Formats: sequence, structure tokens, C-alpha cells
Amino acid sequence: MGAKKFYIETLGCAMNVRDSEHMVAELTQKEGYEPTDTLEEADLILINTCSVREKPVHKLFSEIGVFNKRKKEGAKIGVCGCTASHLGEEIIRRAPFVDFVLGARNVSKITQVLHKPKAVEVDIDYDESQYAFGEFRASPYKAYVNISIGCDKQCTFCIVPHTRGEEISIPAELIVREAKRAAESGAKEIFLLGQNVNNYGRRFSGEHPKTTFTDLLKMVSEIEAVERIRFTSPHPLHMDDAFLEEFARNPKICKSMHMPLQSGSTRILKAMKRGYTKEWFLERAAKLREMVPGVSISTDIIVAFPGETEEDFEDTMDVLEKVRFEQLFSFKYSPRPLTPAQHYENRVPDDIGSARLKRLQERHGEILDELKAKRVGEVHRVYFEELRPGGMVAGRTDNNMLVSVEGSEELLGRTLSVEITEAGRTAHRGRVVA
Ligand code: SAH
Ligand code: F3S
Repeated sequence: MGAKKFYIETLGCAMNVRDSEHMVAELTQKEGYEPTDTLEEADLILINTCSVREKPVHKLFSEIGVFNKRKKEGAKIGVCGCTASHLGEEIIRRAPFVDFVLGARNVSKITQVLHKPKAVEVDIDYDESQYAFGEFRASPYKAYVNISIGCDKQCTFCIVPHTRGEEISIPAELIVREAKRAAESGAKEIFLLGQNVNNYGRRFSGEHPKTTFTDLLKMVSEIEAVERIRFTSPHPLHMDDAFLEEFARNPKICKSMHMPLQSGSTRILKAMKRGYTKEWFLERAAKLREMVPGVSISTDIIVAFPGETEEDFEDTMDVLEKVRFEQLFSFKYSPRPLTPAQHYENRVPDDIGSARLKRLQERHGEILDELKAKRVGEVHRVYFEELRPGGMVAGRTDNNMLVSVEGSEELLGRTLSVEITEAGRTAHRGRVVA
């Protein structure tokens, strides 16, 4: 008989991707499992869920129903991640064939729940900030490294603080050690992860010298084998001058910044408890553009938050016009359990929300068309990390544009100068010039 096999599906954000890598490491190194892409041959089926918006939660139950029909006799099903955290036992009540439920802050218990029938481990006070997970990375070229768990902000729309608990920073020496090991084994790009990265150092679980996110960036950049540093997600409120200066000055820090706006209206930002104003956001974005020529700025925007008027929405459109984000992730407000905003009055009717979302996205599409017209002929350093069908290889520029060129394996893991020959809205084609 061969080794036991597991199948894993990962939804949601980069932190979930990293949590899945941690689970893979634990299962393969401590439990003797091997991965499979074929559900029917798996002995263990895991789904790592997201609960930030309502739709994926609905989909979860239909999806695990399908898993249950297709799985081989005796295979176990585990529901992990943020939806596991906030629904807990209810998952087993609604889907009794589920074998265990493992919350987003209890990833290190994967080897325990496997052996406990109907286990539900969803403690959001659990501290795994110093747990030594086994090593596994989906990509040999890029390493995700967690720098904190949980989130201390209480944005009124957001369920994350209720699924991942309060924020605890991971000790800097553990982060540096992990980054060094990854970079020395070939992952020259380090991607630092947390829900609110630039709040790093606010709380550690033990004694720890004062360390800010800016300090941490310096420490990681001093590792010789590290060539590129990216991070997500920073919070606009914590973009102080020291942080922007380090971002601008440090050649290893990639020049793409995520600045999640959420709304352009100061009144709505207040109701969301974001802690900044429209003017603060615009000033920080302008300063960033001025300090870092060629920087790309991405953002998250929620439309139709309760009480959002036409005028509030115009403020969001105004920020879009002024900042001209290179990338936009936009959502219609979705009321979430455990959050204050679910009880707010003046819900915006769904058709108005849809119309606003459409207008925002259409205008952003036009901005991208305007930006793309200027891209052809530009030369960028591209770090190649992925083979694509049709003899293509893809990588990212320093400012996070996706570029593919003709080529094969020998380009992987290399950083080369590429001239953009055809520009698209989200991805470009190019040719290697050096
Ligand atoms: N700190 C994380 C936030 C995770 S949630 C980060 O900045 O990436 C990711 C995005 O989902 C948020 O920035 C927000 O734009 C969106 N979002 C969160 N809760 C939402 C809700 N209730 N309805 C719609 N969008 C939401
Ligand atoms: Fe959510 Fe706000 Fe934290 S969006 S993850 S509560 S910074």
C-alpha cells in the first residue's frame, strides 16, 4: 500500500495560502502524507476557507457536499480557515460528514485534529506566534513569511479580527532566520505577510526589544541572499515618514505598495473606524508617488457601506481619479456576522451598490487603458518564476507588473531586463534584452 494522500483547496488571501503551506509541511513531515490533485484518491480532503464576504461561505456547504459524494470510502474531510473559526461546531451540525473543524489561528493543531473524531479547534486566543512549523513552499522562487498573526484593528465591516484573533507579532529573529533559510535555498523574493504589517511590533507574546516594521524591513534586507522584499497588507494609517523613506531608499524593497482605501469619504471612513481621512490618504499617496518614481499603488475599495450617499461615493471616485491606482480590488459591502456594521441602519439597496461597483470598475478600466498606452517600450527587471502554456515564462517587475516572454525553464529564478512589447490591462508581453 502506498502513502496516505491528501487533497487541499485554498480560498482567500495570501495568509491562507501560507497557512495551507504550513499544513502541507505538518502532514507530509509528521504524518507521512503525500499530496494529490485528484480528490477521488485522497484519504484526507481539506478546504481552507475565507469568510471575508458572504458568498464564499454559502459556496462552502455546497462544495463540501460535492466532496462528500466524490470522496473515496473512509476518506476524511476537514474544514479549516476563517469560516471554520467563526462557524465552529455549526459546520458539523450542518454537514455531519465533516470530520474536523480547524480555525485560522489553530493551524499547528492539524496533526492533533486528524486523530480526534469530530474535533473542533477554533480558539481565537490561541498563540501560535512561535510555533516551529515544518518547511514547505509551493514555489521554489518566492517565500511567504508570516510576521504576525491576527489583527488589532476593528474595522467595523471586517470579520478577520473575529476569526484570527488579536494581533501578535512573531519575534524578529524567527522571521529573519526563516527568510535567510528560504533565500539561501533559492527563494530570492521574500513576501512578508500579516493583516496589518506596518503595525508590526505592537505586541509580542514574550519579552522582545522594540522593533518597528521599518526596523524589520531593514533587518530582512540585510540578508545577503535576499534580492527582493514584498509585503502585504500595510494600513494607510501607519504609513509614517520613516516607513515611506525606508520604502523609497531600500533597493531590495519592491516598488509596489498596497494602500487599502476602502472609501474615499471621510465620513464613511469614520463609520468604518479606519482612523484616517480622505486628505490623509491623498497626502500619503502623493508623497509616495513623489518619493518613488515608477511606484505602483494597489488598493481595496468597498462600495455601498451602510449610509454611503451619492456624495460619499463621489469622494471615492475622486480618490480614484487623483491616485490612479495601478490595481484595484473592489467589493460591494457584505454584512458579516460578529461585526458592528451588520447592525448599521441605512443599508444601501443592492441595485445601487451594483451600479456603483460597475461605475468604479469601468472608470478604473479606462485608467488602466491610459496607463497601458505608455508601457510599450519600457524596460523593467523581471524575476521569472512560472512556466506558462505555449512556451512562455512569466515573472514580475519590481513594481509588480506581470510580464511573460518566450522561453523555458532556464529563465526560472533569474532576474533579467525585459522590454515591454505588448501591454495589457493586467499583464504584459515582453522580450528579454539583457
Ligand atoms: N488587512 C487585510 C484585510 C483583509 S480583508 C488586508 O488589508 O488585506 C481584504 C479586503 O476585503 C479588505 O481590504 C476589504 O476591502 C474587503 N472586505 C473586508 N470585509 C468586507 C465586507 N464585509 N464586505 C466587503 N468587502 C470586505
Ligand atoms: Fe480587517 Fe481592518 Fe484588520 S480590514 S484585517 S480589521 S485592518
